[in-house]
Amino acid sequence: LENGLARRPPMGWLSWAQFGCATDCKKSPNKCISDKLIRRTTDAMVSQGYLKAGYEYVIVDDCWFAKNRDKNGRLQPDPERFPHGMKDLANYIHDKQMKFGIYEDIGTHTCAGYPGLQGHFQEDAKTFAEWEIDYIKVDGCYMNPDQAMINKYVEFGDYLNKTGRSITYSCSWPAYMPVEQADYSLLPKTCNLWRNAWDIGDSWSSISGILKWFARRQDIIAQFAGPGHWNDPDMLIIGNNKLTPGQSKAQMSLWAILAAPLLMSADLDLVSSSDRDILQNRDVIAINQDELGIQGLLVKKASKHTDVWTRKLTPIVDNFHSYAIAFLNKENNGADKVTVTLSDVGLTSTKKYFVCEVFKNQKKPHLININAKFTVKVNSEDVRLYKAIPATPKMLNCKKHLTCS
Ligand code: GLA
Ligand code: GLA
Repeated sequence: LENGLARRPPMGWLSWAQFGCATDCKKSPNKCISDKLIRRTTDAMVSQGYLKAGYEYVIVDDCWFAKNRDKNGRLQPDPERFPHGMKDLANYIHDKQMKFGIYEDIGTHTCAGYPGLQGHFQEDAKTFAEWEIDYIKVDGCYMNPDQAMINKYVEFGDYLNKTGRSITYSCSWPAYMPVEQADYSLLPKTCNLWRNAWDIGDSWSSISGILKWFARRQDIIAQFAGPGHWNDPDMLIIGNNKLTPGQSKAQMSLWAILAAPLLMSADLDLVSSSDRDILQNRDVIAINQDELGIQGLLVKKASKHTDVWTRKLTPIVDNFHSYAIAFLNKENNGADKVTVTLSDVGLTSTKKYFVCEVFKNQKKPHLININAKFTVKVNSEDVRLYKAIPATPKMLNCKKHLTCS
């Protein structure tokens, strides 16, 4: 959507994968969807360095609502869990230089059964603008997944626009219908990002299933990603203690290759320092946020277990792109050793490339010809991520290479 927003994939935190629809604050005071959770997450974003690393949206997913609209038909948050109201919460987040996101649904109800937007588009858009919301995820439960649903998303987007407030618009209609029906060409005109597939779960198999879904359909969907409009493979689950360090690096790397929104969903007060380092790794974030916004692709199955994914990046040197290259061993079958050439994975400059590895403290780039053998050992359910830059006479160090794009 050309509204000046989401020129890079949005980065932030979203409650769903970790906190779901926990509404019983007596039973789980620290885990229920509440003003307290959102404020402590906001605080942690600042104090633990996430904001500095680029994560700026704090987004409350489903279940922030009171059971019903108020007597004037206006949306209202649950009065016990959000006793100060949404405007007050937005002020708190804005005071910390962050942005506030919220969740709704295009149908009659949200997926968890709270009041949906249906029949209230104009007044609800106004309410969100009054609350100073900066981002809205609009889900697609309780409505037939057909063309009429798509039209409703367009219509609600118009009402958001008419409020005059800058609001990042996340749509979900493609997640409710086959790719062929979803009218992908309309997405970049209507939404800043959109969920493509099913909900991510807290496991490696869920991550690898989503990657498979993206790879299968990449020739159709990748072209619609770019500054202002992104495919969304769903939240990062890093930090929930359900992934090994290798799996965490792999999710982070592949989400960077896919130009995916980086929306963490963890209890930020419980994230291990090694997971925090992965979530805040400047080099992988720089790949994710590359200004060209070109979504990466699976380009080669290097072995039965290991796939190679690449993404075109800046800097462009003499008309040749730089690349991110990820070797992903999806399987739990031990380490896999694969050999490719840079030419095999689509690089074309006949001059050499400087190659640096992310997640390593490499000082000097390797200088590699596109036809030279490049052998990589990848552990099970792990990744090796590289950035390759067309060689220039002036050799830089890897630190500069990886972060300055
Ligand atoms: C759907 C969405 C999830 C989450 C829940 C909330 O399943 O895909 O991301 O928003 O609804 O109920
Ligand atoms: C349009 C309007 C902006 C703003 C956004 C919201 O681009 O021109 O003022 O309302 O939509 O997404």
